[in-house]
Amino acid sequence: MTERKTKITKAYRSSQNYYDDALTGKRWWAKLYAHVIWGADDWEIAARLLDFLPKDFAGKLLDVPTGTGLFTAERYKTMADAHITALDYSENMLEKARARFTDCPNVTCVQGDVGTLRFEDESFDVVLSMNGFHAFPDKNAAFRETARVLKPEGLFLATFYIRKQRRAADALVKAFLQPKGFFTPPYWTKNELETILCRYYGTVGLSAEGGMAIMRCVK
Ligand SMILES: C[S@@+](CC[C@H](N)C(=O)[O-])C[C@H]1O[C@@H](n2cnc3c(N)ncnc32)[C@H](O)[C@@H]1O
Repeated sequence: MTERKTKITKAYRSSQNYYDDALTGKRWWAKLYAHVIWGADDWEIAARLLDFLPKDFAGKLLDVPTGTGLFTAERYKTMADAHITALDYSENMLEKARARFTDCPNVTCVQGDVGTLRFEDESFDVVLSMNGFHAFPDKNAAFRETARVLKPEGLFLATFYIRKQRRAADALVKAFLQPKGFFTPPYWTKNELETILCRYYGTVGLSAEGGMAIMRCVK
């Protein structure tokens, strides 16, 4: 395991107990964190991303990184005809996801690295990637692999941090999230990210919400 992967694994192992609270707004600081620092609500962004999926979606979806399944479990329960592979590097995060997905027989949880996916070329209709690319240690490999496993005309739906949209977010990443191992550089501006996406996708839809990018790309 590389030094970067070890750091990320440790960070997410130690955070598994407060990760969900931070994002569900159960704690007073969670709302402050979302609105003051990020200028974005994770739940709203997750809903926007999931809305890109057809209501009657019945294909194969790769969710990477699935984390604890916090934002997706309710929607996955309604997608009985879809085949969902929920992949994460951290066994600790997956343990929570497995518990959350018990009512989702259509979901299979898998431990793995986004940089070396074990799936065949062009095997998924959708790749969903929420809040992952700012953590992934090898982002080129992550872009390459997620595009490789998508079928032609498959959908890449993703959200992650972009720099120079929110000063408070940039400062927090530098002072805390990166040193602690939750985030790994490099990070991109919206324009830089658009250039990268155009290398992999024929159609690129990209918008920013606070310090987060939201993308819907077609291979
Ligand atoms: C911020 S969490 C996001 C999880 C979930 N999608 C969400 O929005 O709540 C980032 C996740 O990325 C996972 N991760 C980091 N590096 C990874 C890699 N190389 N391959 C797969 N997952 C990875 C971490 O274990 C962690 O669960």
